[in-house]
Amino acid sequence: MIRRIHHVGIVVSRLAEAYEFYRGALRLPLVREAEVSDQGVRAALLSAGDSEIELLEPTSPESGVARFLHKRGEGLHHVCFEVADVGAALRDFAARRIELIDAAPRAGLAGQIGFLHPKACAGILVELATPAAGAHAPESWLRLKRLVIGVPDPQPTAQLFQRLFDLTELAMNGGPRVMLAVGRGALLIVPTAEVGGATGMVALSLVATDFPALTAALDGAGTRLLKGTGEVTVDPASSHGVHLHISRYE
Ligand code: CO
Repeated sequence: MIRRIHHVGIVVSRLAEAYEFYRGALRLPLVREAEVSDQGVRAALLSAGDSEIELLEPTSPESGVARFLHKRGEGLHHVCFEVADVGAALRDFAARRIELIDAAPRAGLAGQIGFLHPKACAGILVELATPAAGAHAPESWLRLKRLVIGVPDPQPTAQLFQRLFDLTELAMNGGPRVMLAVGRGALLIVPTAEVGGATGMVALSLVATDFPALTAALDGAGTRLLKGTGEVTVDPASSHGVHLHISRYE
C-alpha cells in the first residue's frame, strides 16, 4: 500500500535561511514552494532522489508548526508516505479504529494529503499523500536513504509500523535495531540508548552520487561537519536541527 517515503518534513524558523543550507550548500533542487494557509505554514519541497525534503516555516503563531518550533526548536517534524489513494487509505484506517487527525483528504503541498494521529504511530507524526497525476520532481545528486527513529524498545514499534503500513523488515546483522523497507528508502528503528537518549525522528541518512564534490560544496559553504571515511555528519547547527548523515555508498 505504501509506495515510498514521499517526504520528510522539517520545521524551520525562516525558509530563506534554511534555503541557504538545503538549496545552497546541499544543492537540492526546488520542486515547489507555496503557502498552505490551513496548516499555517509556508512550505517548500526539495528533491532528494526517490523522496523529497519538505521545509516548513510557520506563518501563524497558532499553527501546530509554530507550537512545535516554540517547544522543540527547528528539526524533523513528520514523515509522509505516498499511497495510491489517500481517501481510501484514511477510510481503511478509520475502519481499523486507528486514530486520525484527518478523516478525509485535503489539499497539501504534496497533493491530496491526510495525517494520522501521532498516538497511533508510537509518537511519530505520519502524513499520507497522493501526488497529482504527472507530478515530477527534478533529478537530485542526493538520495534520501533512511529515516532514523529512536524508541525505548524497537521491536514492538517496528511491529506496529509493519501492522499499520504493511512494511517489510530488511535483514540486519543481529542487534536490537530494526530496518523496514519503504520503497527504495527505509525506516531504521533504533534504541534511544544508541542515539543519546533521543526519541522520535532523530536523524536522516542520504547518499551522494558525487561524494568528493559534496564534501567540497559543504566546505565551501562553511558547513560544520564531522568527516569519516565515506561519510560526513552535518552538525545540526548547520542543518537547522537535523542530524544529517551523508554517505558515499548505499
Ligand atoms: Co508534509
